[in-house]
Amino acid sequence: MLTTNGVDLGDPDLYTTLDRRARWRDLAERDAVVWSGPGSSPTGFWSVFSHRACAAVLGPSAPFTSEYGMMIGFDRDHPDTSGGRMMVVTEREPHRRLRKLVGPLLSRAAARELADRVRAEVDGVLDRALDGGVCDVATEVGSRIPAAVVCDILGVPAADQDMMIDLTNHAFGGEDELYDGMTPRQAHTEILVYFDELITARQERPGDDLVSTLVAADGLTIDDVLLNCDNVLIGGNETTRHAITGAVHALATVPGLLADLRDGTADVDTVVEEVLRWTSPAMHVLRVTTADVTVNGQDLPPGTPVVAWLPAANRDPAEFDDPDAFLPGRKPNRHITFGHGVHHCLGSALARIELSIVLRALAERVSRVELVEEPTWLRAIVVQGYRELPVRFTGR
Ligand code: HEM
Repeated sequence: MLTTNGVDLGDPDLYTTLDRRARWRDLAERDAVVWSGPGSSPTGFWSVFSHRACAAVLGPSAPFTSEYGMMIGFDRDHPDTSGGRMMVVTEREPHRRLRKLVGPLLSRAAARELADRVRAEVDGVLDRALDGGVCDVATEVGSRIPAAVVCDILGVPAADQDMMIDLTNHAFGGEDELYDGMTPRQAHTEILVYFDELITARQERPGDDLVSTLVAADGLTIDDVLLNCDNVLIGGNETTRHAITGAVHALATVPGLLADLRDGTADVDTVVEEVLRWTSPAMHVLRVTTADVTVNGQDLPPGTPVVAWLPAANRDPAEFDDPDAFLPGRKPNRHITFGHGVHHCLGSALARIELSIVLRALAERVSRVELVEEPTWLRAIVVQGYRELPVRFTGR
């Protein structure tokens, strides 16, 4: 067992600098299992970092559940009230049922249908960004595209989308004070109120969107519908936004990448996988043990929270050669950016298509991406994300 000398790994201040990477690297290399005492989490939690240990904790047959919650702060004594109702914190048959209902709306086929929408959003963003000025990719590029896609999936009417995209960006800007005006919590409440109205509208006039699908399903209450719309909204936004921002960061810092994408020397799909590994936007997922289990030699009784740090696993030198380098042709690339096991991200096809469209559009329309200043990072523990990424785009 290792303790981190009183360091609470759930403290968001630890993640605002790149020191986090050195810490994760050290802990992954040692295949450590670390205890963080009460603090960010009322009862404390264990952490694992290596690719092997994270995959083992999240694996399909592991004696762990997400029903008490999947983020630091939750455990058996302080369970997430959405447990057993919202997909990501539900297990067994109810979980399978929710995945079956929501899956088709986020599938590869659905993602392809959304491709034109994504391309239109990317072009709109680039039209504004290609004016020669400094563009903060984190707020101007990354934020708009995923929010627009999620609105389409949910069935938010066109007239309300700009408002919802704004609200979404306020609600999920991280634990940071970057956005003034409404607090993130107020913005999230506004979104839930809006969903409630949308649910009523879809009960009267169903469409072919996610809200209508959930409303029509047997056995789901209005609250269940709300929670699962929220799951897709939360799952689909911030993560993808930081992956998109990271894609632009790679284009600005990896020599020749833009030109290689344009002339086909670099394969877009392979580059997308490396963007996903390198950015690793979902920072942690938590599970609670359901039986006695030994993790890296540490015996844990039932009810113990264990956190898997996905960015640490994605730069574990035992799994990835030269893990800090962005290698456009990296193969194999067994990253666990989308998690692992039964809760593997349901929106992964959509996120991949969004990223590939962004990369293709930039390769087509931009000859140079210049980093104006080093990025700053969000003060957050749920996402590993960019606070600011100022760049200058030069059009072709
Ligand atoms: C689940 C990451 C994009 C919807 C997850 C999980 C991770 C993740 C790590 C597993 C959570 C766990 O095991 O507890 C990401 C990343 C994304 C992304 C890094 C972008 C780069 C999306 C998108 C959507 C989405 C675009 C939908 C529009 C979901 C849903 C789940 C999920 C519904 C729950 C699946 C389940 O519990 O079975 N995501 N996600 N995600 N994600 Fe994503």
